[in-house]
Amino acid sequence: MASFRGRSIVSIRDMSLEDLDMIVRTTEAVKGGKYSGFLRGKTVATLFFEPSTRTRLSFESAVCKGGGSVFGIADPAASSQSKGETFADSIRTVSGYCDVMVIRHPVEGAARMASELCSIPVINAGDGANQHPTQTFLDLFTIKEQLGRLSGLRVGMMGDLKYGRTVHSLTHALSMFGNELTFISPPTLKMPDHILAELQGTGLSFRTVDNLEDAAGAGLDILYVTRIQKERFGDPQEYGKVAGTYRIDRDTVRMLGEDIRIMHPLPRVDEIDEQVDATPNAIYFVQAHNGIPTRQALLGLVTGGIE
Ligand code: NCD
Repeated sequence: MASFRGRSIVSIRDMSLEDLDMIVRTTEAVKGGKYSGFLRGKTVATLFFEPSTRTRLSFESAVCKGGGSVFGIADPAASSQSKGETFADSIRTVSGYCDVMVIRHPVEGAARMASELCSIPVINAGDGANQHPTQTFLDLFTIKEQLGRLSGLRVGMMGDLKYGRTVHSLTHALSMFGNELTFISPPTLKMPDHILAELQGTGLSFRTVDNLEDAAGAGLDILYVTRIQKERFGDPQEYGKVAGTYRIDRDTVRMLGEDIRIMHPLPRVDEIDEQVDATPNAIYFVQAHNGIPTRQALLGLVTGGIE
């Protein structure tokens, strides 16, 4: 059986199908009220060097609900890195203050580096445009909960597929479970070639299109919408060229069919019209709330409070 005790969670690439299954099943049990107090006596540090609402607050809420203690940095300007301390020295220091460290950082590979610098589990809460594994865990849990299965689905991913770390992690996980993927983006924001090459190696069928009408033709079970990652554009003019390219409204939902489920990691800017929120197709707030049991399950597993 997969064991998580003491383990860092850095990338979906490090995980087996059994690991992902175990996280989804543990989340089901946590949500069903099976465990309580499993973080008693544990201290979790949340170190966020990039903005966050859902990820940081749901981690912190998850710790409180599990009976543990949490402290952290929500604003890098308030840490000693603003005095010139290196990231490595900050990590070495904080690792002596807690049992688990949750890190978000703009540099790709930062969480991996932190995990190599200390002996406590490090959880990657997003490293630049690279990976966001805990978002993928809650996405998988939501898909299983809402659609009853994790394989044999037709999933469209739309928006900023170049810089969106959520879709990078999710693509890898959904390909492991055997799903048909359609990537919808302007050519300048398409899924990076190394991820497409990896998918090609799996033999799974996938498509790359630049408009939603083409994707809708094939029939989709899920449309996963993402925000254009403005902060990752080197040139604001380049952002201006693609901003507002896609917008999902009630007509789009109708075109996609009555069973389509719309997901989004949030925050949204203007990709989904608020009128869509009231439709049964919109599951992005359920998805955001599933961040709590998912992160409770993960923290329980890596601390050994849930076995
Ligand atoms: C995402 C992120 O930070 O990558 N947000 C989140 O964690 N739910 C998506 C985004 O910022 O667009």
